[in-house]
Amino acid sequence: MVSKIDLKNGDSIEILKSFPDGSVDMIFADPPYNLSGKGHITCKNGKKVACDKGEWDVIEDIHGFNEEWLKECKRVLSDDGTIWISGTLHNHPSIGVLLKKLEFWIINDIVWFKPNAPPQLQPNRLAPSTELIWLASKSKKYYFDYYKAKELNGGKQMRNLWTLTAKRHKTEHPTEKPEDLLERIILLGSKEGDVILDPFMGSGTTGVVSKRLGRNFIGIEVDNDFFNIAKNRINSEKTLEKEKIIVAEMQIASLVQKQELSLLKKVREESLLRA
Ligand SMILES: C[S@@+](CC[C@H](N)C(=O)[O-])C[C@H]1O[C@@H](n2cnc3c(N)ncnc32)[C@H](O)[C@@H]1O
Repeated sequence: MVSKIDLKNGDSIEILKSFPDGSVDMIFADPPYNLSGKGHITCKNGKKVACDKGEWDVIEDIHGFNEEWLKECKRVLSDDGTIWISGTLHNHPSIGVLLKKLEFWIINDIVWFKPNAPPQLQPNRLAPSTELIWLASKSKKYYFDYYKAKELNGGKQMRNLWTLTAKRHKTEHPTEKPEDLLERIILLGSKEGDVILDPFMGSGTTGVVSKRLGRNFIGIEVDNDFFNIAKNRINSEKTLEKEKIIVAEMQIASLVQKQELSLLKKVREESLLRA
């Protein structure tokens, strides 16, 4: 099947207002983290630098902003659709409060553990190495492929702790998500031919994976340069044929199993050392 791709350059809150109610099947949202500026320090190539992801990451009223886009996302989501929202502690308390306030049904909090996260340079806290992904829907009746999750996990129930290494970026975007994270999310939260929306498209990772796996995609990005990066990246991606999608799923499965196994091995080794 040929995926339909619809890319929009502009403010998602404004653009979403023109979408019909219930018109998308799944949403992946990776909103601004609001961690740039305000004296935040990060580690780049082993050096201490000020955290500056760009102007898009500095939002004065982050809670008000989150409420506006989340309200629109809820309106455009189908009755049995799901929304997956990623981020860090800088934004997640606000998202959690709003999911309750807007009466979403919270299904899971998925912890994405990055074993290769950068070290903590200031000796004043633990080294951050996780992101949280909220999974929510409009009601208790929603589409979620439990059996696909089990299959990807070698026949065992998949847990809400996902170990995936952070990858070398394919584009200039400072917060590009790894494609294997989106592969998991899209395989569990949608079917071939579904419409997937990313209101904060960035470098277009969600679009690339949606197209590859035969899903339709709507992406919105406010920044012109990022929009062009995403457009070129998605245009050069091909939809896999049915058989190849199955092979891709098998490859993803073996990767998931390897990661789970190496984590298990590590935990066992550590508990033996403690014993
Ligand atoms: C965390 S990044 C998303 C990264 C993306 N997941 C990827 O893999 O590249 C958030 C993106 O949202 C965009 N953005 C911020 N405010 C926006 C708005 N109101 N409407 C649309 N895009 C916005 C930023 O320019 C930035 O590229």
